[in-house]
Amino acid sequence: MTKLIFDCDPGVDDAIALFLAFASPELELLAITTTAGNVSASLTARNAAIIRQIAGREDVPIHAGADRPLFRAAVEAGAFHGESGLGPLELFTPAKGVEAGHAAQAIVDIVMAHAPGEVTLAVTGPCTNLALAMQLEPTLAARLGPVVVMGGARREGGNITASAEFNIFADPHAAQVVFASGARCVVMGLDVTHQVRADPARTAAIAAIDRPAAKASTVLLEFSNALERDIVGGTGAPIHDPCVIAYLLAPQLFTLRRCDLQVETSSPLTLGHTAVEFRLPDPAAARIEWATGADADGVFTLLTERLAR
Ligand code: BDR
Ligand code: CA
Repeated sequence: MTKLIFDCDPGVDDAIALFLAFASPELELLAITTTAGNVSASLTARNAAIIRQIAGREDVPIHAGADRPLFRAAVEAGAFHGESGLGPLELFTPAKGVEAGHAAQAIVDIVMAHAPGEVTLAVTGPCTNLALAMQLEPTLAARLGPVVVMGGARREGGNITASAEFNIFADPHAAQVVFASGARCVVMGLDVTHQVRADPARTAAIAAIDRPAAKASTVLLEFSNALERDIVGGTGAPIHDPCVIAYLLAPQLFTLRRCDLQVETSSPLTLGHTAVEFRLPDPAAARIEWATGADADGVFTLLTERLAR
């Protein structure tokens, strides 16, 4: 069983990733940590608690975290997630709130209380909480298990600017701290998440499931699919963040390549660009792996099967 801290900014695709994680017995969810990102920090924490309650997983603690990026001005993605962060999903006041204690401190406390390499991190929002945790505890990176991040773009170009993907653009300095930390990172950028789209048949398969998490996921997918059609002119929105959890459950669904990865933190034009270098003197020593391919049918089969549980 993988011991997991899931750091996120729900967010419609974060919410679906949470449902996938909550429904998967292979994952022992030690904590959900939330950050400002798609919407404000108070909304992402509340949204995580709403999704947790729909999934019936109030046993998992939630810690709210960073309310702004390390240095840059805050940038949100309400255009793709709605004002609430959860599109048109019917909201309610969660019966259980978040725990005391900042997300970054919770990450430090949990990781340091476990054996080296025992705790895996999934990051589906800006990397702010993890970067703060690494500043709080300088030995954290060496103690962490794998860090699986949704962020960045190489072949695909950006989705928030011409050269940057949203999560990295929203806090490029934090991403650079994490990628330069020496922690073993698996990075799911747009190159791979754009291969995994909620086309009509896949969306219909989830819509046919009569379970609370599947019904909520259908509302979220249909909302994203409509935006994809109206704003981008495409069919089937990419499900970025669920790729991170799908990788943890079924790594064989993804192709990875060892690389070096640096984040642009100063150029106004290319801020948040991920420079992925495959030409390595010693590939075996590389600490970062970049996802290049996904079995999209496999990811959706997994998601659909878990949402039916
Ligand atoms: C990423 O940005 C956010 O808007 C999504 O939740 C996802 O994590 C995709 O670029
Ligand atoms: Ca996200």
